[in-house]
Amino acid sequence: MKRALDGVIAALERYPGDPVNLLVGEPCFDPPAEIQEMFGRTGGASASGYGPPGGEPELRAILADREGDGSLGPENVVVTHGAKGGLLALFAALIEPGDEVIHPLPCYPAYPAMIRKLGGVPVGIVEHGDAFEGWAREMFTAVGPRTRAVVLSSPSNPTGTTLGNRELSRLIHSCRKHGLRLILDEAYAAFRFAGGIVESSAVDPRDTLVRVGSASKSLALCGWRMGWVIGDPELVTLVTGAQAALLNPPATPPQRAMLALPEVPESYFYGIRRAVYGRLEMLVGAMRRAGFDAEIPAGGFYLWIDIRDRLDPVIPDTAGWCERLAEERGVGFWPGEDFGVLGWIRLALPQGDRWREEVQELERRLSAEE
Ligand SMILES: Cc1ncc(COP(=O)(O)O)c(C=O)c1O
Repeated sequence: MKRALDGVIAALERYPGDPVNLLVGEPCFDPPAEIQEMFGRTGGASASGYGPPGGEPELRAILADREGDGSLGPENVVVTHGAKGGLLALFAALIEPGDEVIHPLPCYPAYPAMIRKLGGVPVGIVEHGDAFEGWAREMFTAVGPRTRAVVLSSPSNPTGTTLGNRELSRLIHSCRKHGLRLILDEAYAAFRFAGGIVESSAVDPRDTLVRVGSASKSLALCGWRMGWVIGDPELVTLVTGAQAALLNPPATPPQRAMLALPEVPESYFYGIRRAVYGRLEMLVGAMRRAGFDAEIPAGGFYLWIDIRDRLDPVIPDTAGWCERLAEERGVGFWPGEDFGVLGWIRLALPQGDRWREEVQELERRLSAEE
């Protein structure tokens, strides 16, 4: 499927100067020293064989310990090829052609894309940015005989909305009533700035809640393709089987390096949260001064900004607006179309050592007269 993003990338390439590119969400900090050091010690030839299909048992035990409230064991965890590999194996395990999966709109574009590729039917229900409160009620009107699961990210990509305990309990309760799995994608769990702490750590013993995690953002290890799925043992067996059939086990060297996870101090996680918050704060300031309605999100890596008043109300062509901005001013924003809604744009964290200058440049370019 063609992405609106591709038009923006092409337009940025046509811009004659340096672009201000806020398209891709990558961490703005280094991986923990403890994990890098462990990689140096364990990532050699001794880690060159296939590992067990569900991941290294020691790593599964560490993740169970870290992610649970004491009630989880390695049998609740499968190590996956990033969160995305986990989602793919999970959807492959849960859905048959024609089955439906409900997701919020806007949402991470991979959900509907993967569900469709597997022959399933994604069913998008609009989320109004109220910490999923209204959504948790509304989305059940879409449940039908072929619905198998509900998937959402919290903190959300792209909106930054985070699920509170009350909404999580409500969703679990209602999913259980309808016999659905609730897939909670926690790729940005390390970046919650506000709102209640979500107690997703206790996996529901009656197999409703499934949690998907990732080392990509929270440990700055996007390129290692390290993720995990946490669920009841029966589901873990199904996901492990699907992963084995589709992809084989995830790479062994990064898994061995991840065994140093318990040594990473809490100060690392505090520091990265501060770093991300600081960049978002500065970005919000620049966008507001340039006349946009920007706010610090409750969590995650992104600003999600309403630009409907800048567009034609009848055909709010967000992609066209972003392409023009890219071509004429060299500024790259991701159009809402790819996330399933018109009239909104997503801005990712500014990258690199010169990020402050980049944000200033962004403000200058957006504020310049036509
Ligand atoms: C909500 C969400 N889930 C999953 C992923 C994929 O993470 P990974 O790199 O672990 O596959 C991303 C990446 O941007 C994401 O935004």
